[in-house]
Amino acid sequence: MSEPEAVVSVSDLRTYFHSDDGIVKAVDGVSFSVRRGETLGIVGESGSGKSVACLSLLGLVARPPAFHPSGEVWYGGRDLLRCSERELEAIRGDRLAMIFQDPLTSLNPYLRISRQLTEVLEVHKGTSGAEARRAAIAMLERVGIPDADRRIDQYPHQFSGGMRQRVMIAMALLCQPEVLFADEPTTALDVTIQAQILELIADLQRSAGTAVVLVTHDLGVVAGSTDRVAVMYAGRIVETGPTAEVFACPRHPYTRGLLASTPRIDTPPGSHLEAIPGMPPDLGHLPAGCPFHVRCSRSIDRCRSEYPPFTRLSATHAAACWNMEEPS
Ligand SMILES: Nc1ncnc2c1ncn2[C@@H]1O[C@H](COP(=O)(O)OP(=O)(O)OP(=O)(O)O)[C@@H](O)[C@H]1O
Ligand SMILES: [Mg+2]
Repeated sequence: MSEPEAVVSVSDLRTYFHSDDGIVKAVDGVSFSVRRGETLGIVGESGSGKSVACLSLLGLVARPPAFHPSGEVWYGGRDLLRCSERELEAIRGDRLAMIFQDPLTSLNPYLRISRQLTEVLEVHKGTSGAEARRAAIAMLERVGIPDADRRIDQYPHQFSGGMRQRVMIAMALLCQPEVLFADEPTTALDVTIQAQILELIADLQRSAGTAVVLVTHDLGVVAGSTDRVAVMYAGRIVETGPTAEVFACPRHPYTRGLLASTPRIDTPPGSHLEAIPGMPPDLGHLPAGCPFHVRCSRSIDRCRSEYPPFTRLSATHAAACWNMEEPS
């Protein structure tokens, strides 16, 4: 069987911000692709550039303070970084949708939920009136909003944080997007509803072939819901590959550190988890060479002066490190 083609293909994406302190290299040369129906997980500590990467490729970073992102983002035969705002508006929310880390980003406080949801259907699908309302209520029910046919007429402030998160998820899923960027979609939700939302996304993948980019801190969710994973550190991907392979045999010391600092179902209670020493770097003042070297127990001289290239470890697994972990 031939490899399915990538739906979105990102190459050398860079997004820098101007700040009082100089230039912050939030995303610094990120490349990845996602195929129809698959899920790519993006993980990494807070501030590693996960959200900025997703927002930039959808044309959603404010400029200024950001520079115009550079690189290429291919979707449907077009480079999104070179599309006009009008073209992007037509694509966003319909073919490419995003669940934002902060639910308030995408809900308008002055409009009833009903209006915000039906508008998405009207603009992108030409569905309106009672039919759009029915579809919106059905989606609210699917994301676990009780009493959806009454609550749909309320305003965002009448919903709790977790409920707002669900409304936003409903909005992102309504048009059955071709690609869904889900930025910490379930962090504000309790465990049972989290499982329900992940199942709903998986359903959409099966029925509509949606490709999903799932950003999360939760390595358990990555292990359970993604096909491939990309590990980010300081604005770059440092290791990527099939999730099972990367988790079983992490080769970048940072990936190994992340996995070692996360409790697993088979971790005996009371056992010691190894935290990665030190703090995530200041992206405005990155050290020379590999920025992880200051926290890395395997660093060698070269790590302090030269950024390591990506080394292929198998057909699908690669990492950027001068002194990789031995395969276990
Ligand atoms: N508008 C902005 N102006 C200046 N710097 C910014 C701006 N937005 C983001 N940054 C910086 O870009 C870097 C990456 O931020 P980003 O939100 O992508 O991190 P993240 O990996 O999503 O973190 P988290 O896991 O906490 O959500 C951070 O250092 C952040 O301070
Ligand atoms: Mg984020």
